[in-house]
Amino acid sequence: MNRLDLDTPIGRWVAEYPATARFLESLQIDYCCHGSQSLSQACASPGLNPTQVLEQLRDHLATCTPVSENWLNRPLTELSAHIEQTHHAYLKSELPRLSELIEKVVNALGVSHPELLTLRSHFADLRAELEPHLMKEERILFPAIRQLEQTATQLHFPFGTVANPIHMMEHEHDHAGDELAKIRHVTNDFQLPSDACTTYRVLFDSLQQLEQDLHQHIHLENNILFPRAMKLECNR
Ligand SMILES: [Fe+2]
Ligand SMILES: [Fe+2]
Repeated sequence: MNRLDLDTPIGRWVAEYPATARFLESLQIDYCCHGSQSLSQACASPGLNPTQVLEQLRDHLATCTPVSENWLNRPLTELSAHIEQTHHAYLKSELPRLSELIEKVVNALGVSHPELLTLRSHFADLRAELEPHLMKEERILFPAIRQLEQTATQLHFPFGTVANPIHMMEHEHDHAGDELAKIRHVTNDFQLPSDACTTYRVLFDSLQQLEQDLHQHIHLENNILFPRAMKLECNR
């Protein structure tokens, strides 16, 4: 436990201790798109005292049930399948559902709450970024990573090394992270107005769940799957 400190990348904290993700979410510390930042650096944006956060993290971990196994030592084939079956499947059903919910709320309250139109625009951008992204991972990158793990011989991919599509995916994660931040901003941290209807409440609740799920999803890819795949290829 003491191996991890203020200089440890924040993504490494969550990779080794998945229970820290929820705690870091509550402090709005970015552990996914900027998971390579040290704990100290990651505290700067939300304006937190790194030493206090380190103490809180250690206290939090002391109350958690230890996880005997995490994704750092499971096969990449298993991890990529887990990402597809949980996070990709979730997005494929949630993105269309949320688009419909936003339309309903805009139609009902868009005149008195013009910020809903901005929300609709940011969500459309997020969806437009994510849908082709999932397809590229499922059809190109993940099969290549599984091949790398399951084949002992040198592989020649049409896109060069796996680092090439990985860097493209990381870039798209950054865009998705920016859109999520804009959604959080325009919804005033998902604070409901006093005249919010039930659909409005369901929408904000669902958007917040989407944010959490996407953070966890990007964390698994940026901080575990991608670096492990690149290391595997380098060691050939
Ligand atoms: Fe993904
Ligand atoms: Fe991704």
